[in-house]
Amino acid sequence: ASWEKQVRHSSTPRRPNGFSVLVTGAAGFIGSHCSLALKKRGDGVLGLDNFNDYYDPSLKRARQNLLSKHEIFIVDGDLNDAALLTKLFDVVPFTHILHLAAQAGVRYAMQNPQSYVRSNIAGFVNLLEVAKAANPQPAIVWASSSSVYGLNTENPFSERDRTDQPASLYAATKKAGEEIAHTYNHIYGVSLTGLRFFTVYGPWGRPDMAYFFFTKDILQGKPIDIYKTQDQKEVARDFTYIDDVVKGCLGALDTAEKSTGSGGKKKSPAQLRVYNLGNTSPVPVGRLVSILEGLLGTKAKKHVITMPTNGDVPFTHANVTLAYKDFGYKPTTDLASGLRKFVKWYVNYFGMESSKGTKRADETS
Ligand code: NAD
Ligand code: UGA
Repeated sequence: ASWEKQVRHSSTPRRPNGFSVLVTGAAGFIGSHCSLALKKRGDGVLGLDNFNDYYDPSLKRARQNLLSKHEIFIVDGDLNDAALLTKLFDVVPFTHILHLAAQAGVRYAMQNPQSYVRSNIAGFVNLLEVAKAANPQPAIVWASSSSVYGLNTENPFSERDRTDQPASLYAATKKAGEEIAHTYNHIYGVSLTGLRFFTVYGPWGRPDMAYFFFTKDILQGKPIDIYKTQDQKEVARDFTYIDDVVKGCLGALDTAEKSTGSGGKKKSPAQLRVYNLGNTSPVPVGRLVSILEGLLGTKAKKHVITMPTNGDVPFTHANVTLAYKDFGYKPTTDLASGLRKFVKWYVNYFGMESSKGTKRADETS
């Protein structure tokens, strides 16, 4: 395969004295940021991504260009391709996997439920099957989601709170991932750390997320919908800035215990861990819109409507005490400062013609 030559001749994926990390979803929002941060601090990185068109793949290609400037290579392939994954482990003895590839998005799960089952359940199991048999057996840090708390009404959410009421199929597949992780840890001693991210935003973000398309629509003078719950309450999210999340991912990798098992045999099992990575300060969506209006210097055409489906949760709010205790996780970016950085990136990426929302051909970073 074409990637094999590149990877064999590159020193980037391997670090004899550091980590060698396989980052799945490396062309995605969080994956691209984490890959750059790992490379910057001297770890080995190799990416995997299928560049699917859930949102504009040209943004994924632009992130790939940025990564390639830092000599980070992304293999174009799918989580469900067992032969490819096995081959990757033959070529690079990964010490860690940062597993971020998934079908994300809460509302799209009603349009294309099978894509969630395929990537978030079948794809995760496929990756675990290959990882459990690899020698050395890598420690795995993977993306769960705040959505597992579902209709939980504890405020804030702690890792021990109930997660048995998923409000969307997306949430159900993320919850299933946590159960599957438990099994692989229990039987094969695989080191597994789940991170429940809370509505992550920032530069190079996801165009399907509200803060991103609100920015686009406000600049284009198009109306936006601000949801309230079916019982007419404001909706709030614990919006978390990407740089804080990246620090959390690296902290989780650094503290992941290595299991001494290999080749599928359990010897000394590592702990299964699950952490909240949020901002600890929920903000109503209406407030998010006011901040964007201020930064963009334009008033939004706001329609406050009852959310069209039951799939959204009314609010999210992270308690991050556990992540702080175990790896010093401490979010430091408030929503206004984080959105300022996002808007700056957005205007630069799409050009000052950003009101048209089209990407400048010459702009990739
Ligand atoms: P993203 O969609 O930008 O990144 C995911 C990447 O994975 C994409 O580039 C996609 O092409 C790739 N991918 C999807 N299915 C694949 C498959 N079967 N094989 C190979 N590649 C595949 O999303 P993101 O926001 O960067 O999210 C990263 C992870 O964090 C996901 O697991 C997501 O569910 C989770 N998460 C994100 C947020 C958030 O607010 N951004 C919050 C909670 C959890
Ligand atoms: C986000 C991500 O999209 C999921 O992939 C992730 O798993 C989840 O965070 C998480 O934390 O686990 P969500 O919080 O729904 O999901 O993010 P957005 O789709 O950007 O919505 C943000 C808020 O805006 C929500 O409260 C939503 O109800 C609201 N919204 C959305 C509107 O008010 N109007 C819209 O048109 C769309």
